[in-house]
Amino acid sequence: MNSSTQTILEHSQIPRHVAVIMDGNGRWAKKRLMPRVMGHKRGLTVLENLCEHCSAIGVQYLTVFAFSTENWRRPQEEVSFLMGLFLQALDKQAQKMHRNNMRLKVIGDRSRFSVEIRAGIEKAEALTAGNTGLTLAIAADYGGRWDILQAANKLLKEGKTEITEADLSRHLMLADAPEPDLFIRTGGETRISNFLLWQLAYTEFYFTDILWPDFNVRAFGEAIESYQKRERRFGRTSEQLPPEQQRG
Ligand code: IPE
Ligand code: IPE
Ligand code: MG
Repeated sequence: MNSSTQTILEHSQIPRHVAVIMDGNGRWAKKRLMPRVMGHKRGLTVLENLCEHCSAIGVQYLTVFAFSTENWRRPQEEVSFLMGLFLQALDKQAQKMHRNNMRLKVIGDRSRFSVEIRAGIEKAEALTAGNTGLTLAIAADYGGRWDILQAANKLLKEGKTEITEADLSRHLMLADAPEPDLFIRTGGETRISNFLLWQLAYTEFYFTDILWPDFNVRAFGEAIESYQKRERRFGRTSEQLPPEQQRG
């Protein structure tokens, strides 16, 4: 195999963009007779490890669901804990990410966050903006429907009366990233829970019962392996695909 073929294969095999619903923190803690929030704490460490691993294997974008527009409905105590954890991560993890050449972005409606969190987001994004490695997008107070609506509202403000897919995509939160290749949801539920509704149109889905705090490099490897066996046809027939993209 010459080196140019090898490059093509490597690019087609490692997903460029992985989107993850990190679910199961509460159940993980409950199983251990601990308060739910301990699962969130452990979950943050798992995310840190995943970032490093993704960066090492050449994933370029990792988008994770940390807090949905619906999660405000949780007990106030849990919401406060999550906000505290977020603030802490924005400071400490952002610095670590910066040292590792990673970019941090937060996607979602910032208006409901405290002034401290909003400032923390801006600081972390500014600090890491020039980095060229993995981009981690944290979806916080994010909802897929909200994302589509805010894009449509921006277009209305521009004076548009008729819009195209490209117009809408340009204003979505992940406009700078390619659409996710692989979607992973841990924790056993098989639903989207209002995550990236528009962007997941042709993403490969992978669900696992593993609870997020137990998710590790090996479990991620299994998801990648499953992804690599899929034939991504985008509406075409198998025979129309270049041989290196045909499976089975
Ligand atoms: C996901 O874990 C984290 C957040 C939604 C913040 P959960 O807290 O939903 O955990 P389970 O689903 O109750 O186990
Ligand atoms: C989805 O998880 C959101 C996050 C992981 C942040 P949930 O646990 O809130 O989802 P539902 O409500 O069970 O669908
Ligand atoms: Mg859950």
